[in-house]
Amino acid sequence: MHNNSRRPTRRVGVPQLAAAVSNAGGLGILTALTQPSPDALRHAIRETRKLTKYPFGVNITLLPSINPPDYEGYARAAVEEGVRVFETAGNNRAGHPGEEDIGGLVLLARAAQELKIPYIASGGFADGRGLASALALGACGVNMGTRFMCTVESPIHQNIKDKIIASTEKDTVHIFRTLHNTARVFKNAVAQQVVALERRPGGAKFEDVRELVSGQRGRLVYEKGDPDYGIWTAGIVMGLIKDCPTCEVLLSRIEREAEEVIEELQALRVTGKEKAKL
Ligand SMILES: Cc1cc2nc3c(=O)[nH]c(=O)nc-3n(C[C@H](O)[C@H](O)[C@H](O)COP(=O)(O)O)c2cc1C
Repeated sequence: MHNNSRRPTRRVGVPQLAAAVSNAGGLGILTALTQPSPDALRHAIRETRKLTKYPFGVNITLLPSINPPDYEGYARAAVEEGVRVFETAGNNRAGHPGEEDIGGLVLLARAAQELKIPYIASGGFADGRGLASALALGACGVNMGTRFMCTVESPIHQNIKDKIIASTEKDTVHIFRTLHNTARVFKNAVAQQVVALERRPGGAKFEDVRELVSGQRGRLVYEKGDPDYGIWTAGIVMGLIKDCPTCEVLLSRIEREAEEVIEELQALRVTGKEKAKL
């Protein structure tokens, strides 16, 4: 998502939102490559510190790139600024669902089988029921992207927040499938044009869609509030998003809902007496 050719999601993981998430009891994440340089990341980290006394992390997204960013410089800047939590994503995350369409349920259950370290579930989470299900599948928490786009503190235009609320789980589409770098994006006219080019006889090369998917156009979607201006990332979890709360209201609601679900599930337990009757 952050490489120079395909980065539709910049400008969301900024100090204002990361700090709001941390202040609300989550772990806010700054996206390093949203900043134009390692030095700018330093400033963003300092700015976030002014806005929250709680921990936050830095994401450095590693994807194939025509002009790879200075990954080392970004990592060094964050370490030198005292950041202790790093998050990274490669081809299977960050709106990049992978090429094999393995659903989250199986991915998480496989993670539970394979991993000996704590892990966090990502993709499709927006509420307490989702959090409880991730915990049941062995994860120790959830990562949410689309849900936080639609919060009061999210730095994107209100029209886009309203668009997310009005959209359903059917309003995304995969682009770059034929280029083996599948990305899930909001299904607008531009995204459908990209898919049509990919599907035409002989397919499409990146050059053919470069202008349509430009990061500049995607950025303007968030700034100007025109959902059709370019390509922008959004998950199928849009179907679950019905409001635009503050991060604090959202996170306390998710916590309460998850606790309620876990309590309800406890009622399903078969007690000693009932077992004896069987
Ligand atoms: C607007 C937006 C921007 C994102 N930016 C990044 C990013 O810069 N780096 C990254 O690794 N993931 C990024 N992600 C992916 C999220 O971290 C997360 O993996 C994904 O959104 C989870 O799926 P969900 O949208 O269903 O919650 C972004 C997601 C969205 C919606």
